[in-house]
Amino acid sequence: MKKLAVFASGAGSNAQRIIERFRNHPAIQVSLVVCNRPDAGVIGIAAATGIPILMIERERFAKGDAYIPELEQEGIDIIILAGFLWKVPGKLVEKFRGNILNIHPALLPAHGGKGMYGMHVHEAVIAAGDAQSGITIHLVDEIYDHGAPIFQSAIPILPGETPESLAARIHELEHRFFPAVIEKFVLGPHSTIDLSSIESMTP
Ligand code: GRF
Repeated sequence: MKKLAVFASGAGSNAQRIIERFRNHPAIQVSLVVCNRPDAGVIGIAAATGIPILMIERERFAKGDAYIPELEQEGIDIIILAGFLWKVPGKLVEKFRGNILNIHPALLPAHGGKGMYGMHVHEAVIAAGDAQSGITIHLVDEIYDHGAPIFQSAIPILPGETPESLAARIHELEHRFFPAVIEKFVLGPHSTIDLSSIESMTP
């Protein structure tokens, strides 16, 4: 059984899809939800499904042991960042190198880096006049939004598009693909995952 830790700071809609996908899965299990905000939506979602929640605080995460003992104790194999806003400290990257995935709501390397999260991303895409946006699922290294992409999917920017409308369409794309890409990655491993192989796995 491969054990996932899902890190999320926000509403947790991606975390929810991931938890649903792997409930009763024969080979993959979400064993831990890691969260840095007591009011995050993901906490209720994890509690309802009986998945343990690890609340973390910045000092120990960024400058201490990065909660590696807790992750080891749960036997975590892979870390999934699903709307987790803190930078992953070098110590944790080193420990799980090649086994940490993040989802970014744009087509990296465009519109990534520090401060590029949430609506800031979609505002930047529209301000740049880009013809398309999308999602990038990538390995995490020491630099924000920098590790090797394993999957991208694009959508066109529509006439009259606003950051809000784009955010909603990107969120749909994330929900559609992120759990299936994780599944393929974990069962793989694959350096890149193509869209056609994922479309056959999406409900
Ligand atoms: C997603 O848009 C993801 O790309 C970004 O944070 C957002 C999380 O949304 N990294 P949710 O909390 O899963 O609804």
